[in-house]
Amino acid sequence: MAVVLAPAARGRAEGGDCHLVDPQGRALRYLRLSVTDRCNLRCRYCMGAAGLDWVPRAEILTWEELEQVVRVAVGLGVRKVRITGGEPFVRRGTIDFLARIRRLPGLERLVVTTNGVGLAGRVGRLAAIPVDGVNLSLDALDRDRFLQMSRRDRLADCLATLDALLAAGLTVKVNAVVVAGMNEAEIVPLAELARFLPIEVRFIEAMPFGGDGVRHTGWPASRILAHLRGHLPPLTELGATGTAMRYQAAGFRGQVGIIAGESRAFCSTCDRLRVTARGEVKSCLYGEASGWLLPRLRSGASDGELAELLRGAVAHRHADGRASEGARRNRLVVSMAAIGG
Ligand code: GTP
Ligand code: 5AD
Ligand code: SF4
Repeated sequence: MAVVLAPAARGRAEGGDCHLVDPQGRALRYLRLSVTDRCNLRCRYCMGAAGLDWVPRAEILTWEELEQVVRVAVGLGVRKVRITGGEPFVRRGTIDFLARIRRLPGLERLVVTTNGVGLAGRVGRLAAIPVDGVNLSLDALDRDRFLQMSRRDRLADCLATLDALLAAGLTVKVNAVVVAGMNEAEIVPLAELARFLPIEVRFIEAMPFGGDGVRHTGWPASRILAHLRGHLPPLTELGATGTAMRYQAAGFRGQVGIIAGESRAFCSTCDRLRVTARGEVKSCLYGEASGWLLPRLRSGASDGELAELLRGAVAHRHADGRASEGARRNRLVVSMAAIGG
């Protein structure tokens, strides 16, 4: 007799050894952990010139608390952890933290997203841990345009980090958010980095996470792709990995990719769980927090109690980013620095 599984049970069956399975049956094996909301740039698509209403230091999870969260998440089946910010390396101790969680049994991939500013001299330490990959945010190769977008004259710092990462043999992806009226002229020069460098250059649809609710239109994934096809050697589709649709340009050493984040093109396979710097659990970038770890951590919660909180946050996950956004009780006026990307 055929057994009809209830959605939650079906999820568990599909999740195998993963205990974080949502009502759609998606197993969440990828944790994005924001270790600070502070940043050394002020990118216009992320925050205003004055920065954010920063999370008070006392409300930012300590390294010990973050380590407990990762340990519990790995115990529940998480296999990949990405450290994000704000800018993760403006917080003192990030590299030591990475080295500690690297040793957690069961964690297969440890990766970082950074803007690279001020990191070049520490890349050797990252490579020694080692981390499995670094995603480097870089929106322009022209100094003035970099300054215009990030409100800081730090292009040279970011490029020095790119050099150092490659020299250290680390796997690098470059992330460029495409913003109409700002850096469309950078798309081709950035893509050209992949001609001689062994990197994936990814173009990202701008999402409404600039802290002001503004929706940037003008460069959806389809237009980015048409632009690349019009200006690069012939592109062969390589398929999707996680967030990005990847392409090989003929004769290029590296690849190019497009992330249709605002179109929410990859929700059906989304395997990400987020924890913000103040310990909120988010099961979707576009949704509200579905749990808050900080008070539980500070009242001495056991690993088992934290595990219950994480499972609860996943149990009511919406089907996709549009449903998550639609279910919000408040307007989407959030900075990416507060979520961690
Ligand atoms: P890989 O693990 O290397 O595939 O990277 P990633 O794309 O998961 O992470 P990264 O921090 O490099 O993010 C690149 C862009 O994708 C950023 O603009 C993110 O906000 C966006 N992004 C990452 N995860 C999600 C997601 O779950 N949903 C949406 N809509 N966008 C996402
Ligand atoms: N839209 C799309 N991507 C964004 N990022 C930051 N803000 C936005 C936004 N509004 C990107 C960063 C970084 C990643 C974590 O998220 O450039 O590469
Ligand atoms: Fe996952 Fe939400 Fe992003 Fe869709 S929009 S891929 S559900 S985080």
